[in-house]
Parts: sequence; structure tokens; C-alpha cells
Amino acid sequence: MTTHRFPPGFLWGAATSAYQIEGSLDADGRGPSVWDTFAARPGTIEGGGDGSRACDSYRRWDRDVELVAGLGLGAYRFSVSWSRILPQGRGRVEPRGLDHYERFVDALLARDVTPVLTLNHWDMPEALLADGGWVGRSSVDAFTEFAAAVADRLGDRVHWWITQNEPWIIALLGYQLGLHAPGVRDLRASVAAGHHVLLGHGAGADVIHARAPQARVGCALSLFPCDPASDDPADLAAARGSDGYVNRWYLDPLLGDGYPADMWAHYERALGGLDDIIRPGDAELIGGRSDFLGVNYYTRRVMAAAQPGPGRPFPWRVVGPSGDVTRTDEGWEVAPDSLRDLLIRLHHDHPGVPLMITENGAVYGDTPTHDGLVHDQRRIDFLLGHLRAVHQAVDAGADVVGYLHWSLLDNFEWALGYRPRFGLVHVDYPSGRLTVKDSGRVYARIAATGQLPDTRPTVPPFG
Ligand code: FCB
Repeated sequence: MTTHRFPPGFLWGAATSAYQIEGSLDADGRGPSVWDTFAARPGTIEGGGDGSRACDSYRRWDRDVELVAGLGLGAYRFSVSWSRILPQGRGRVEPRGLDHYERFVDALLARDVTPVLTLNHWDMPEALLADGGWVGRSSVDAFTEFAAAVADRLGDRVHWWITQNEPWIIALLGYQLGLHAPGVRDLRASVAAGHHVLLGHGAGADVIHARAPQARVGCALSLFPCDPASDDPADLAAARGSDGYVNRWYLDPLLGDGYPADMWAHYERALGGLDDIIRPGDAELIGGRSDFLGVNYYTRRVMAAAQPGPGRPFPWRVVGPSGDVTRTDEGWEVAPDSLRDLLIRLHHDHPGVPLMITENGAVYGDTPTHDGLVHDQRRIDFLLGHLRAVHQAVDAGADVVGYLHWSLLDNFEWALGYRPRFGLVHVDYPSGRLTVKDSGRVYARIAATGQLPDTRPTVPPFG
């Protein structure tokens, strides 16, 4: 008989990132980040928003700590704003930035909340663009300085470290399609950026381990299982190819297997060689340093074969699921079974690597109703479905150590601005008022009991 109990010590938490919630972009000596300048360019952000105010979390950090603790969450994933620590990208470290995160971490620990600290959640200091941002190999040294400064200050009390958030998304949206900062559109640049992000993980992990031997260091990957649109061998090859591009290109080197040969061949065909970017010995600088793998999971990709052409460097395309599927308000298919299969696959392909769900969540636009509450039933269903999937993977042997929901708060969703709402907690941006959604209340109950309800739960009170 299956119990719906999670393993003892399982981390229940929620996640955010600095630029998406903090605001206070000029406080305490912070330097500009690539997102400040990108968001200031007309047309880059839906609705024209930016991170200048967001959830006001830099000033109201104690409110956030109370919220996390009040929900009974045992873990909180947040990121350290890179340009608050190294305002010019290299050299001078700003102690006021470190003071802020030290206060914050101490407050979490005082409330028995385990901090899960992300270093690079995309807000690279603007000054580093002089050398191409992540395209320049010097970005690896710059990132290592950042990792060292934060580990020097917090290595004695933060035990869970995430070096990089979503290398593929940085490479794809930041450097291939130009939809995120710094807005570059160049396939070769994107391969270089992705490679340097991975080298940064390796070098960053080394400096953290040297300063904090008990630290557990990982990288958070955006993993999208790729399914074929049909059983036609061409579609099967498309799904396999896309899996190389999105998932294995990052998973394999991180977990010590080097870059996958099939995707290497696709890049060589598209770019005529990678030797000027990926040097002999680089694989050894990336692999073998991850104490766990961060899994960010949102949906799957359904793939079909296609001719490469302008805007399509590889022989595949996303066609999406056929038939009537459940979707979030952003149109993404709700596919919890793919999360279960992904976790089991990771367990088989990379045995011995603990897995942490570092992000999982959905856009639902619910806002307060007549009673002042947010009845986001679809997020409750999403949450329960995905937690069941995690539980099934655990039953099948996967070593999953925690689940961090994206996100604690509605926040600045990058190029989509403030429209998509991912939070367990609703944010009324003009007034700053927070309302714990029904999903937040249900999640608090699950976190407190470590157990999933068998039937649709009633919504418990909060506070
Ligand atoms: C991920 C990002 C996170 C948030 C969610 C919705 O790709 O890591 O910051 O934007 O998607």
C-alpha cells in the first residue's frame, strides 16, 4: 500500500530570486545589473515594468521571513543580488550588501528555516558586459569572485548552495533569442555563454567547498522532458535531439560525463566547430563537483522533425501536445507524470546524485474575491498533482531531498512583467498588501504534516 508520507528531513519550501522581488535598486551601494539596463529598453518588458519596486523585499525582508515561518516552511530559496556584492563586477566588495544577506540568513535560521542560497539568478553586474557578459571567458573568474565573497561571509551557516540558475535559459533567452538580458541574438554566443556558466559552476563550487567543507553545492537546471509527437522515427529522433539541446547538454557535463556527442555534432553542423569555445580539459573543470542536482520543472516539450532554416538551427520543432490537455493561464500544459518520469530517469542515468526540486509552479491569475481571499483551486490541484508525482518517484527509488515551490510571492516575471502570477501569496503591487492564497494554506498544511491528503483538502485558516 502506498503511503503519502515523504521521507524524514524532506525540505518543504518556496523559492524567489533577488531581481524579481527586492526592488531598492539604488540602496546600499548596489551597482546596476544587466536586468536594470535591459528592462529600461523600450519594448523589452510586457507592460513596461521593471524591478525597481517589485515586492519591496529588500526593505521588507523581515516580513518575508515571517511569512515563510508563518507558513511553517522548513526551507527558503532566495538569491543574492550579484551587483549588491560586486557593484562594478570585479574587485571591490560592498559590505553593506553582504550585511543585508547576513541579517536575512540569520533571521531565517532563528526561525528554523533552512536557507537555500542561489548565487547567479541572472542579475549579472552590468559592468561585466564590457567583456561580453557570459560570452567572455573572464566571466568565470568574475563569478568566482562573487562566490568567494558570499562564501567568506555566509559559508559557516548556509549549507545549501546553488551556483547557477538555469544555464540553458540564460544561453537561450539571454544570448540566442535576445528575449532576456543582455538581449544578444547569436547562436555561437549562446554556446559560449552556456559553457562559461557551467565553468562558473565548477569554479564556484570549488571556492565554496574550500571555504565551507560541509556545504552542499549544486546547479539548478531547467529540465523539460521531450516527447515525440508521433512514433515516426523522425519524430523520435527530434525528441532525442531536443533532449540533447535542452537537457543533456547541461546534465552530462555537470554530472561528469562530458558534453554529449550527438548534440556536439548538431552544434558543429550549425556553427562549423566549437573548439574555440570549449577547450581541452574544460569538462574536468565542470564535472564531479555537484553534491546534488537542482531540478526546475514546469512542463514538457512535444517535438516533431523539421527542416533547419532561418531561426531554426536544428532539425526539430516544438509542436505541443495534441488533444485536450489541462493548461495553466500561460498556456503551459500541466504534466505532472512527466515530472515523475524525469526524476526516475535522473535517478537511473545519474545514480547517487540527490535531487532537489528547486522550482515547480504555475501561472494562475486568481486575485482576491468578495471575501478578500484568493481561491486559487487550480494551483492547489497543480501542487497536489506534482507532489504526488514526486512521491511516486521517491517510491520508485529516486533520492529527492526537497521541494521548493515557485514562488513564495507573485513577482516580476522577467520579460512578461507583472502579469503572470506564480505566488502562493498574492501581492497587490500598488499597496504592497499580501494575501496568502488558498494554495499557500493547503501547502502549509502539507509541509507541517509531511503528508499528502488522499482527497481534495479543505482550505485551512492562516495566521
Ligand atoms: C524560471 C526562473 C524563475 C521564474 C520561473 C517562472 O525559469 O528560474 O526565475 O521566472 O521560471
